[in-house]
This record gives sequence, structure tokens and C-alpha cells, in this order.
Amino acid sequence: MDIQPLPTDLASLADHERHARAALDPAAWSYLCGAAGDGLTERNNRAAWESIALRPRVLAPLAGLNTRTTLLGRSMAWPLLVAPVAFQQLAHRDGELGIAMAAAAQEAGMVLSTQAGVAMEAVAEAVREDAGRGPLWFQLYWQADRGIVEGLVRRAEACGFEALVLTVDSPVRAGFRLPAGLATPNLPPSSGDADFDTLCATAPTWAELEWLCGRTRLPVVVKGVLHHADAREAVARGAAAVIVSNHGGRTLDGAVATATVLPGVVEAVGGRAPVLVDGGLRRGADILKALALGAQAVLVGRPAVWGLAHSGAIGVAHALRLLRDELQMAMALCGCADLARVRAEPPVFSPNQ
Ligand code: FNR
Repeated sequence: MDIQPLPTDLASLADHERHARAALDPAAWSYLCGAAGDGLTERNNRAAWESIALRPRVLAPLAGLNTRTTLLGRSMAWPLLVAPVAFQQLAHRDGELGIAMAAAAQEAGMVLSTQAGVAMEAVAEAVREDAGRGPLWFQLYWQADRGIVEGLVRRAEACGFEALVLTVDSPVRAGFRLPAGLATPNLPPSSGDADFDTLCATAPTWAELEWLCGRTRLPVVVKGVLHHADAREAVARGAAAVIVSNHGGRTLDGAVATATVLPGVVEAVGGRAPVLVDGGLRRGADILKALALGAQAVLVGRPAVWGLAHSGAIGVAHALRLLRDELQMAMALCGCADLARVRAEPPVFSPNQ
């Protein structure tokens, strides 16, 4: 992996986005950074975080400020994972290995997509020795053949993934023709795109979630929940955590913003499992808002892709570092020396308080 020189004007994720757009050819940009339909949900995700106001407390002790938290029984230095993103080599040859190594270097977690361009064993191997890294999870798209699901589960368990993330918000998806040279080595060769009726007939249901939870020793995280009743049901059926997500606005355009539904989901789950959130988080202050609304951790998708696109692994590391520094700064300015304080006295403004 070559270390590329970074652009010198990277002061925010918006700068990363601009450089990524300049670096990518239009087709790659539109797949990697586009949204479904008219982009309503993608815009609303961002706007919903922006509309939440922080309300700082002053003169609180800040000595020893830290962002450490626990997630599914393990400690992590700060509460962020890179979301599963398919076909990362479309952005840069460093691809999934670059993102995994950058996330590990920044002590963030990573979720590897089913549709990764690298074998899951290679990704696990690349970060095995990194003691400070965050959690390494494997994302699962349900497959019509349970034997294939079982095979993926066994491989993920054997090579050291710490959880399985079942994505449930895209039971039907538009086909995507892979450019030459890209492959999905974790999946058997497909016999072509299934039609709509077949996709509907083979879409997973609650029964498949229960089956999966019973088939693995790993915790199962359900990704793509927007309704509090679904979150409650997922946990009742065995999910170890839920991720409030609308796939970054890439599936149902018009779906509600994740920040809007997060508090209701947190309340419905009632502490029985951690709730995570993704979609449109672009500033450390957005992360602080998510934590203040009850999320245990957050994920970012496109921001990692932007860093990867213009500078490979080093660009990803820079983008993550920016978010981490911004989170620390926002905590300090809100009078929160640790995340326990954020949870005990959420620094978000509500007219009722
Ligand atoms: C995704 N996402 C996604 N999710 C998933 O569960 N499996 C996948 O393979 C993919 N692939 C994928 C590709 C690309 C190019 C993007 C941008 C996103 C969704 C992703 O995990 C996450 O939910 C969103 O990206 C979060 O929103 P932001 O941070 O991109 O706004």
C-alpha cells in the first residue's frame, strides 16, 4: 500500500468530499456517493443532525477528557465504526484493506460488506495484530440459499469477526453491473440478477433473523431499522444490537431521517441492547448529538469512501481523525469530560427543559 501525499487543504469532511469528487470518474462517483430517487432522504439525514442544537454546560471539570466506551462487551477508544460499503476498490485500489487498516490505526471499528472486493480472511488478517483497533464486524446480505449464509457465518467466525450485521432495509435492490476487474470473492458466482418477484419471494423475514441468531455464536446486529416496534421485535427475537439506518438514503427515498427516529427507538429498546445510528453524520458535533440522543455508537459510510477515493488508506485515516478530534472538541465545549456525562446529562437543547 503506497502512502500518497494528502491534499493540504483538508479541514473538514466537506473538503474530503470535494477532493473525492475531483478524483473519481463520474460513474464511480455516482455509485459510491449517490442516493436513491431524488436524494430526499440523503439530504434529510444531514439536515436532521444540523437541526439539533447543542446546549453546553460551563465550568465543568474537563481533566482527563476521553471518548472511551463499550460496545457488545468490549472496550473501544471512541464510538465510531466505518459502515459496510460494497465494492470499495471502485474508489481506490487500497479498497477494503485500506479502510480496515486506516480504521484500525484510528482505533475505530469497521464493518466489512458481504459485497467486499477482498476475501474476509484477508481483511481480518490485515488488522489481527492491531491491539488498539475497534471492533471488526461482518455485514450479511441474506442469501436465498441458507447454505451460502451458513458458509459465510462459519468463515466470519473462524477468521475473527466479532459480530454479524444483518442488513434488513434492502430486501429488493436494483442490479449493479460490476466494472471489469472487480469481484465479490466472499460470495459464490451468481447466475445473474434475480427478477423482482424472485427477490420478494426470497427476502428475509423475522424467521430468518431467528434462524441466524440460533446458528452462530457471534452477536447478531440488525441494520436498517427505522420503526421502534421493529427495533423492539429484533431484540426480542435475539438481536444483540440494532442500527437505526436508512442505508444513507440509498434504498427508499422519502424514508424518515435517522436522527428523527433515534430517540423513539432508544426508548423502545429500553436498554436491553445497544442502539447505533448512521446516515449523514459529517461532524464530530453530529456524533455528540447522536450519543446525547441515546446511541451507543455511530457509523459513517461515505466519509470513509471520500478519504479513500482521493488518497487511499491515508485519506481514510485523515477523515476519521478529523471526526475524532471534532468529537473531543465538541465534548469539551459542552462540558462533557466523558461519555457517561453525555448520557447522564445530554447536552442537546429541548424546549421542555
Ligand atoms: C452502502 N451501504 C451499505 N450497507 C450495507 O449494509 N451493505 C452494503 O454493502 C452497503 N453498501 C454501500 C455502498 C455505498 C457506496 C454506500 C455509500 C453505502 C450503506 C452504509 O452501510 C451506511 O448505512 C450509509 O452509508 C450511512 O450513511 P452515510 O454515512 O453514507 O451518510
